[in-house]
Amino acid sequence: MNILLLGSGGREHALAWKIAQSPKVDHLYIAPGNAGTSTVGTNIPLKADDFNGIRQFVLSNDIDMVVVGPEDPLVKGLYDFFHNDMQLKNIPLIGPSRQGAVLEGSKDFAKAFMQRHGIPTAAYRTFTGETLDEGLKFLETLQPPYVLKADGLCAGKGVLIVPTLDEARRELRDMLGGMFGAASSSVVIEEFLSGIECSVFVLTDGTGTHYKILPEAKDYKRIGEHDTGLNTGGMGSVSPVPFATPEWMKKVEDRIIRPTVEGLKQEGIDYKGFIFFGLINVQGEPMVIEYNVRMGDPETESVMLRIKSDLVDLLEGVAQGNLDRKPLEIDNRSAVCVMLVSGGYPEAYETGFPITGIEEVQNSVVFHAGTAIKDGRIETAGGRVIAVSSYGLNKEEALKQSFSQAQKIHFEKKYFRSDIGQDL
Ligand code: AMP
Ligand code: GLY
Repeated sequence: MNILLLGSGGREHALAWKIAQSPKVDHLYIAPGNAGTSTVGTNIPLKADDFNGIRQFVLSNDIDMVVVGPEDPLVKGLYDFFHNDMQLKNIPLIGPSRQGAVLEGSKDFAKAFMQRHGIPTAAYRTFTGETLDEGLKFLETLQPPYVLKADGLCAGKGVLIVPTLDEARRELRDMLGGMFGAASSSVVIEEFLSGIECSVFVLTDGTGTHYKILPEAKDYKRIGEHDTGLNTGGMGSVSPVPFATPEWMKKVEDRIIRPTVEGLKQEGIDYKGFIFFGLINVQGEPMVIEYNVRMGDPETESVMLRIKSDLVDLLEGVAQGNLDRKPLEIDNRSAVCVMLVSGGYPEAYETGFPITGIEEVQNSVVFHAGTAIKDGRIETAGGRVIAVSSYGLNKEEALKQSFSQAQKIHFEKKYFRSDIGQDL
């Protein structure tokens, strides 16, 4: 079969790497992809949200399945675009409908959904410009720190956690006043939860009953060691997560995963794809911080290493509604990823630096995030540049391997965190 994968980051290179290993695949295309995806498939110069361009490409290249990496095309309704097109409707697209993607696209919708289905999450209320005064009063009823979230998508920047009531009041006014444009015209204020976070990924086939729980992972979001400094798109990840024991995961499945999958069905929401549960472990009890409607980045760069089964076979199960009949075998080893980033990131940074040494890496997998090929050479093209992913019998061994291989890759102003996984 021929598969088209949409997206261009490290997550997509990891998905492409795994998809390309399937004996079922004749040809894998990635739109737009990066220098790394071109080593496992064919890059197509199409943006992931160019619906008409994707339509033409799919029809003229006998594409049998479309896999969506990022949330953006899903939030914009790519699933529905396929579903409502006579020529595209029978071509499976892995990802939820626009309505399903609202789980990520609107924090208020996600919180209300969890409340309707009794899924554990922080207590909250949502406010708009019209209810600003009530919002200010609500803040007084909470304990610091204060958590304020823009309702809509803000490229990961829409959550503010502030230490004092005065700041919280000011930020609420600013957010509702247009700090994040339309995305913050509604603001969710919620109770602060204290604990360690963990990302759990599920594939589901829209039946409301079938799902597969993929390996969990923990990501590292801050730029600085020991979780200091600004938030980034992710500096590394480890899988498995030690506190995600079978007992803890049973709570996650019973209280969170099953009610979510059943809830989607009950509400008539078409959802065939990945669900990403952003969880927090509050004194042994899992609670939901957020939903995403895609895989995580950089979690995918370790999770894919731990899936032994054919991912394409599982995706066919998603498309056909018989995911229950597909085997999912997990590798017991640890897998980690260490992200090499451009100096200056997540603030201003330069691109266009040549990258050398990738071919010297041994026994690790190099996933490209922000790279491009120019005049036949690979160069930096983003803030997050390359993920070095490795296996180990335990996370220490896997990390040692990734760090040693990270030293072999060179580009100007390379930086990475050398404390990934140390907090666990
Ligand atoms: P979100 O975009 O909702 O995932 O929020 C971004 C980050 O803010 C999360 O990964 C958490 O680290 C943090 N966060 C969000 N909500 C809460 C909360 N209620 N309590 C504590 N931390 C939170
Ligand atoms: N690693 C978090 C995310 O992908 O949103």
